[in-house]
Amino acid sequence: MSPSALPLGDPLPADGSFPQEVLDALPGRAQKPFGLYVHIPFCSVRCGYCDFNTYTSEDLGPGASRQSYPDTLIGELEFARGVLDRSGAPERPFSTVFFGGGTPTLLPAEDLSRILIRARELFGFAEGAEITTEANPDTVTPESARVLAEAGFTRISLGMQSAVPEVLATLDRTHDRLNVPRAVEAARAAGLEVSLDLIHGTPGETLQDWRRSLEEAVAMAPDHISAYSLIVEEGTAMAAQIRRGTLPDIDPDDQADKYLLTEELLSAAGYRWYEVSNYSTSEKTRSDHNLNYWLDSDWWGAGPGAHSHMAGMRWWNAKHPAAYAQRLHAGTTPGHGREILDAEAKVLEHLMLRLRICEGLDVAAYNAMEELQEIQGEPITAGELRRLVGDGLIEEVAAAPSAEHPGGRAVLTLKGRLLADAVTRRLAP
Ligand SMILES: C[S@@+](CC[C@H](N)C(=O)[O-])C[C@H]1O[C@@H](n2cnc3c(N)ncnc32)[C@H](O)[C@@H]1O
Ligand code: SF4
Repeated sequence: MSPSALPLGDPLPADGSFPQEVLDALPGRAQKPFGLYVHIPFCSVRCGYCDFNTYTSEDLGPGASRQSYPDTLIGELEFARGVLDRSGAPERPFSTVFFGGGTPTLLPAEDLSRILIRARELFGFAEGAEITTEANPDTVTPESARVLAEAGFTRISLGMQSAVPEVLATLDRTHDRLNVPRAVEAARAAGLEVSLDLIHGTPGETLQDWRRSLEEAVAMAPDHISAYSLIVEEGTAMAAQIRRGTLPDIDPDDQADKYLLTEELLSAAGYRWYEVSNYSTSEKTRSDHNLNYWLDSDWWGAGPGAHSHMAGMRWWNAKHPAAYAQRLHAGTTPGHGREILDAEAKVLEHLMLRLRICEGLDVAAYNAMEELQEIQGEPITAGELRRLVGDGLIEEVAAAPSAEHPGGRAVLTLKGRLLADAVTRRLAP
């Protein structure tokens, strides 16, 4: 992901090399999945709710026009290869690749393919690697889907958002809603797995509108559906409209009703949740790339503003595409800042992210975390689990100790998913 606001952090050395503690930890992570995120920072229209790092101008400076960007991005992949070679870490092919944006499919499919093929040459892909691109429904044709599949993409994630014209208009979405089934068909004919992104809780959207969006999505039989609650991000056009009173504010009760309807309709259609906002037809069609973000794996994020994580260190690239390109052309890291996660951050992240997935939090493994001992944090007790079961927030059967999970697991119930943040706070050390 590439959120628009960058945190503060320490500067990176010009050659991007890792600090000693990361170098020491990398050999122990050789068996963990390794992902590549590729950020494509272009959109034809800026949606009023979106704060991703993306730009509508076709030319953002040297190395940052839509034409020159693929080579600049490939420059970062080559730079990354050098950093990893110098680290002496064991070879690790990418097990997942995700092209996100922005709108990756605003670039010609040949350019996306060229980037992917270079990534494979430089790093290799693990057998059965999941390779996704996000796409706007207007920018997928049978021909472009075929080019993407031939280059090695296995999956496409389409930004449908809603089936209702008025809701799409409030979201500033300009895509033709009839292009969604066409894009799904084109992707499927090319042999790609299909995911649809939906958003609920848009100001003015009725429960009936949301039902229609879900029903139309299900009718296209995608392999995967992401159904997000709309977040009003500070600094977006939508936040200003709500402040001025030209749009009503988000109603958390309405969003909860829509979450319940999502569960009802998607589970009736054969989808099962595996993360609070993500549903798939089977374990095989889950998004491995996103799961890796939630399971403390490593990934390299390439492109302006992209975030990376290796062995407990996070770093993020210069945000503006021109500044990003300039650094790479000067032969220096595009990284803008970095931080080593401290013990408390690691514990909280583990707790929060595991709780969001359907396998839940393995309580004994959590209680045994070195970082929890280091901060002298409270372990989770059987009594607290019982209270959460009593409040209907976690599943009773999963919470019971078993041979595989001697401390039980904290798996959110439907009510718990609506209150995931509150459950995290109750279990926090
Ligand atoms: C980078 S966009 C996807 C690809 C493409 N740009 C598109 O919008 O069609 C990733 C997804 O994040 C979700 N998203 C973006 N901003 C959001 C917000 N403020 N609240 C909830 N979901 C959001 C949308 O569902 C969107 O499809
Ligand atoms: S098309 Fe996607 S990335 Fe671009 S502004 Fe809209 S939601 Fe954001």
